[in-house]
Amino acid sequence: MHPHIPFMIAVDGPAGAGKGTLAKHLAEVYDFAYLDTGLLYRAIAYEMLQNGYDLADVQLAEKIAGSLDPATFKESALRDEAVGGAASFISAYPGVRAALLKFQRHFAQHPPFFKKGAVLDGRDIGTVILPEAQAKIFVTADLEIRAKRRFKEMHERGIESRYEAIFEEMQSRDLRDEVRKISQLKPAEDALIIDTSHLNIEEVFLCAQDFVSEKLKTSL
Ligand code: DC
Repeated sequence: MHPHIPFMIAVDGPAGAGKGTLAKHLAEVYDFAYLDTGLLYRAIAYEMLQNGYDLADVQLAEKIAGSLDPATFKESALRDEAVGGAASFISAYPGVRAALLKFQRHFAQHPPFFKKGAVLDGRDIGTVILPEAQAKIFVTADLEIRAKRRFKEMHERGIESRYEAIFEEMQSRDLRDEVRKISQLKPAEDALIIDTSHLNIEEVFLCAQDFVSEKLKTSL
């Protein structure tokens, strides 16, 4: 690893594919800093919903994006499905993405606590935020499987939900994330693609670790 350039791992993919679990695991294994970039978009959406603001108010969304303080995030509230849907909506605004780009790049280039690297998970980390990332992974899975996983997770957390509603919400969120004009959800050309539909978590971890360890060796 170059002494002054942090090692960057980009983990992208649709909701429920397991990218958060994988990204957190990689950060732990390599002792790198971790940033869940979805939380940034969720925090903007949450503030708009809480205050009854119109989600279509682009200028307001941009203003909130410019003044986010991750230290104040209440993660459990941000995890709500409705917040995720609204986040997907406001994430299509170029001004919002531009405001968050700076924050994300700064985090990766100057990882907190003097860590030697950073893991960022999101939708456009490998393609737009950190095109120079040394390791890029795109995690995906069939929509039905992702919806089942999310349903199980909600049930385990004691949150009542309907499978059909989760399926439909995920389907429309995928579509919004894929068709928006900027930073569309798609793998970077040099990304390792892992389809987690029929893999267990250990298999996903191993596959990603093999890839990252190889990249780390060559960046020494
Ligand atoms: O990963 P998540 O479910 O927490 O993300 C919520 C929404 O935020 C998602 O539907 C799209 C948007 N998002 C984005 O556009 N770019 C990112 N890097 C992360 C999230």
